[in-house]
Parts: sequence; C-alpha cells; structure tokens
Amino acid sequence: MKNNLALLRLCQENVDSDEWYTPPHIIQSLGEFDLDPAIGPLAPRTAAASYGPDVNGLTMPWFGRVWLNPPFSGAAPWIDRLREHGNGIALVFSRTDAKWFQQAVQAAGCMFAMHGRIAFSRPAHCEKSKARCPLGCVLIPFGAANVEAVRSCGLDGIFLKIARNFPRSKNRASKVKARQPA
Ligand SMILES: C[S@@+](CC[C@H](N)C(=O)[O-])C[C@H]1O[C@@H](n2cnc3c(N)ncnc32)[C@H](O)[C@@H]1O
Repeated sequence: MKNNLALLRLCQENVDSDEWYTPPHIIQSLGEFDLDPAIGPLAPRTAAASYGPDVNGLTMPWFGRVWLNPPFSGAAPWIDRLREHGNGIALVFSRTDAKWFQQAVQAAGCMFAMHGRIAFSRPAHCEKSKARCPLGCVLIPFGAANVEAVRSCGLDGIFLKIARNFPRSKNRASKVKARQPA
C-alpha cells in the first residue's frame, strides 16, 4: 500500500510535461522511420520528417513508417491514429486497463514489454535532464514488417503475442465461474 502511494506520487510529479525523449538506442534497434508526428523542437531526431506542436501533428497527413512516442498528457488520439494508419511503432506506458491500449494491442496482435523503466532524456531546462519513467513501457507495432522489427529488436524485454481472435468482451459468465470455489 505504502509503495503504491509512493508510485502514484512519483507519477503525478513526473508526468507534468510532454518532453520525454526516446533514448537513441531504442530508435536505432528498430530501424529508420519516415515520420515522427509528435516531436518538440528540443528533441533529438527520430525520423526523416517530423511535426511539432506548432503545426499539431495530429491534424497533419501521416505517411510511411511512423515512430510514435506520443505526448503523455493525452496518448489516446495519437495511438488511435497510428492504429488507423497501420504502419509504425508506438512507445507507450503499459496502461493495460485503458481502452486505447487494449484496442491498439488487439489490432497489432502483439506487443513488446520492455524490461525495467526507460531512462528518457529531457530538455536541459528540466530539473532532471534524465528521468526514469514512472511506469513500465511497451512497444506496439502496426504492420507485418514492424511486428518483425519489434520481435527481433534485441532490446531487453519480452515479445507477447495475443491469441488469434481473442474476443475483447465483458464475459460475465466466466467472471462468475472464476469466483466460485474450486
Ligand atoms: C513524449 S515526447 C516524444 C518526443 C519524440 N517523439 C521522441 O520519441 O523522443 C512527446 C512530444 O510531442 C510534442 N507534442 C505535444 N503536442 C504536440 C502536437 N499537438 N503536435 C506535435 N507534437 C506535439 C511535445 O513537444 C513532445 O516533444
């Protein structure tokens, strides 16, 4: 209980800014990207082309192979857009309870759960120029080539495949059964 409260406080203190930059070795392990639609002016290069907050990458045309580490303040519309685009890789918090997370993983058919907490880099003006992510992160690939890139990336973590046609439904019957004593 005490640990959970400490984690919650850490999350609130740290997720106060969208400027959490992907460590270069993660991008390098996944290959070249055509577009990063969410990247502030201080962030290191992640893709051949990019959009920043000045143009709002969410409303611009997306093309080619997309790298997406979305603004933490509102990941859902970004992940939904990448799911519709169908070609790219997202790096997101392990928010296994969220609708956008479940829909994304269901569409991808797999995910890569990264080991440990990522040490994101942050702009120099931030109090800590490097900060461990307060939650675990996963990579979610869209499109066969990106699934293969994630499966063979060599990063520390585990590649998880979703059972084919596994339904995302509220199965009350199985919940009731699970509560019955053996
Ligand atoms: C978590 S950081 C990731 C940065 C970069 N994509 C990376 O992987 O290192 C999210 C970035 O999205 C930018 N951002 C926020 N709102 C945006 C918008 N509407 N359009 C484009 N970029 C945006 C922020 O400035 C921030 O740099």
